[in-house]
Amino acid sequence: MDLKVVFVVVFLSALAITSTHAGIPKCCISIKKPTKEMFNVERWERQYSNGACDIDALVVYVKNRSKPYCINHTFEKTLIKMTAKKRQPHQKRRV
Ligand SMILES: *[C@@H]1O[C@H](CO)[C@@H](O)[C@H](O)[C@H]1NC(C)=O
Ligand SMILES: *[C@@H]1O[C@H](CO)[C@@H](O)[C@H](O)[C@H]1NC(C)=O
Repeated sequence: MDLKVVFVVVFLSALAITSTHAGIPKCCISIKKPTKEMFNVERWERQYSNGACDIDALVVYVKNRSKPYCINHTFEKTLIKMTAKKRQPHQKRRV
């Protein structure tokens, strides 16, 4: 390989590492048990194992935290319930 090519490859991979550090990781590679902190959930994204990522997971974005959590996708229903409860007074009218 040409030395210039090697340099470009090294530069590009360094760039990739930096951007994943600064931004949001594209894929959850492992999942954690949800913690109390997770109750500050702002939003989440469903990650599918059949897409670009290896595992099914929920990418949970929490207030006061720049990095999202990765949790088991089976918790999605819990999250929906939690956020529905919070928003109910503003969204729903009592009949
Ligand atoms: C977020 O951080 C601010 C400032 O550090 C703090 O006042 C606030 O209570 C925190 N909110 C939560 C939900 O932890
Ligand atoms: C997520 O939780 C379900 C039910 O508890 C379990 O069957 C599944 O293996 C878990 N997924 C991962 C990726 O650990």
